[in-house]
Amino acid sequence: MALRATLACALAAASMTAAGENAAYRQFADEHLAAGRSLWIANCEGCHGYGIAGAPVPMEPSDWRPRLAKGRTVLYDHAINGFFGPDDTLMPERGGNPELTDAQVKAAVDYMTALAGYYIQQKR
Ligand code: HEC
Repeated sequence: MALRATLACALAAASMTAAGENAAYRQFADEHLAAGRSLWIANCEGCHGYGIAGAPVPMEPSDWRPRLAKGRTVLYDHAINGFFGPDDTLMPERGGNPELTDAQVKAAVDYMTALAGYYIQQKR
């Protein structure tokens, strides 16, 4: 019994650390979204995958419904220039990576919003 529980824990931990392999981060056929997914995993997942520091998690519909309602232009602007939310939680400029171009940040936003939209559909 104890061994089985230990094994289950080890497996769960392994699937959580291999971010690129996390099945929750759905792949989309669209090339732009595939590029956005890689950028998102490399630059945004560290906070947004787990709700670190209050970051909205795309697998949680209640986190994203109010964000999507702001419209894409606002979301792009907040991701590129940074944004303090009403609870004083900070989305850092370009996710804290000044090397990212506007187009790359936008592609990561496009992936995250597509993923959030998918989970909103699923859990409706
Ligand atoms: C250091 C942690 C962290 C990283 C890394 C990070 N974010 Fe965020 N992000 C946050 C937090 C916290 C919020 C919530 C801010 C708030 O509304 O209070 C947020 C909110 C957002 C929002 C919603 C803004 C709004 O107006 O509701 C978008 C879009 C976003 N992030 C995109 C990104 C993208 C794209 C990346 C990667 C390039 C990224 N974030 C990386 C912490 C992070």
